[in-house]
Amino acid sequence: MRGEVRPPGDKSISHRALLLALLAEGESRISGAGDGRDVRATAAVVAALGATVERSGDDPRAVDYRILSPGRAGLREPADILDCQNSGTTFRLTAGILAGLPGFAVLDGDGSLRGRPMGRVAAPLAAMGAAIAGRAGATLPPLAITGRTPLAPIDHATAAPSAQVKSAVLLAGLTADGTTVVRESVATRDHTERMLRARGVPVRTDHLADGSAVHAVDGPAQVGALDQQVPGDISGAAFWLVAAAIHPDAELTLRNVGTNPTRRAIIDLLRRMGAEIEVRPVGAAGDEERGEPLADLVVRSSTLRGIDVTAAEVAAAIDEIPALCLAAAVASGRTVIRGTGELRHKESDRVAGIAAGLAALGARVTVDGDTIEIDGGRALTGATVETHGDHRLAMTFAVAGLVARGETVVRDPGSADVSYPGFFGELERVRA
Ligand code: S3P
Repeated sequence: MRGEVRPPGDKSISHRALLLALLAEGESRISGAGDGRDVRATAAVVAALGATVERSGDDPRAVDYRILSPGRAGLREPADILDCQNSGTTFRLTAGILAGLPGFAVLDGDGSLRGRPMGRVAAPLAAMGAAIAGRAGATLPPLAITGRTPLAPIDHATAAPSAQVKSAVLLAGLTADGTTVVRESVATRDHTERMLRARGVPVRTDHLADGSAVHAVDGPAQVGALDQQVPGDISGAAFWLVAAAIHPDAELTLRNVGTNPTRRAIIDLLRRMGAEIEVRPVGAAGDEERGEPLADLVVRSSTLRGIDVTAAEVAAAIDEIPALCLAAAVASGRTVIRGTGELRHKESDRVAGIAAGLAALGARVTVDGDTIEIDGGRALTGATVETHGDHRLAMTFAVAGLVARGETVVRDPGSADVSYPGFFGELERVRA
C-alpha cells in the first residue's frame, strides 16, 4: 500500500457548522465539508427549518456550502417530519435547537436510528421546558418536540460521556434565561464549545484533575455567522492508520487531518501498540485557540503488540474502537478494552458486530460484559462478514480483508457512504 489519502471533511464539525449557520443570521460559508449521507441529512434539516442551503463541488470528500439564514427568530416550523436518516448527531443536536424554537417538529430516522436511545436528550430538554413525546416514554424516535422560548436553564450531568448530549443541552442553553451547565465524567469532543466561542458565544469550560469537565453557557445568546474550514476526519483517517500499520508493506500519507486533542486518542493508542505514525502539524483550520489543529499523518507497516485500554480511552476514541479491535487481532499478545458499553448504542451493536466479524475471520475475541478481550497474532482468513448496515464495521472489515488470507466478503458495504463516500475507490487505489 502506497500513496496519499485525503480523508473526507470531519463529520462532527460539518454537522455543527451547518446547524450553527442555521442559528446565525446572514451568510455562512463552509468549505471542505464531508458529503456523506449523515451530513447531507443535516443539510436537509437546516433547509427544512428555513435557511437557504447551497451545496457545491463534486469531490465527495469535501464539498462547500453557502448558508443564508434569517437567524433564529426567522426560522419556520417544518412542514414535514425531519428525517435524520442514520445520523444520531443530526437527531440529538437538532433536538437541542428545536427545544428552544416555539413551534412543533418531529424528528425521525431510519431503522437503526429508531432503535437508539434518545431519552438522554429528551429528558434534559423536557426539564428545560420543551414538550417532548415519543415512543417508549419519549426515549425512542420518532420524537415530537414543541419548543419554547425562553427555556429554563439546567445543571445537567450526562449519564454516559456523550458529546451529542452535551451539545444538545448547550444549544438549548442558548435560548435559556440564565446559565446552563453540563457536567461530564470524561471530557468528550469539544467541537461545539470551540465553534460557539468562535461565533461569539463565550462557553466556559473547567477541566478537573480527574478528567471530568464542566461547561457553562449564559443565555440568551446570539450565534454570529462565520466561515468554517472543515479539517479531514480523523475517524475516517483511522481506517488508513490501521490498514497501513497491519499491512506488511505499506506507507501512507494522510493529508490535512484534524488532530484536536479530544479526537486524536486513536493515534496515541495505536502508537502505544507500536504503530509507526508520524504527526506533522500543518497549522489550523480557523484560529489557533478556537479553531481546529491540522496535521499530515504518515503511517508505515508496524509490528503491533496488545495493550490495555481504559474506559476513559474508549470514550475518547469511541468511533475508532472497531478499527482498533482489528489492529488488536493482528497484534501479538492480548488487548483488553474496558468500558465498551456505549458501543452497543451506535449505528449497530458494535460490540457484538465486531466480535462476530473478527471471529468469522479467525480472530480470538471474547466479550465479558462491557470488556472486549482479543488474543492477537493469529493469521486472519477470509470469510463472509456481516456489517449490520453500520459504516464503521463495513470499513473495518474491508481493511481486514486486505490482510486476511483468501477472499473476504463484506456484506452490505454501502453504509460506508454514511461517513466516507468513495472509501472503496480509495482502498483500491492505494492498494494497487
Ligand atoms: C459525535 C459524538 C459521538 C460519536 C458520534 C459523533 C458527535 O456520539 O460516536 O459518531 O459528533 O458529537 P455520542 O455523543 O453518542 O458518544
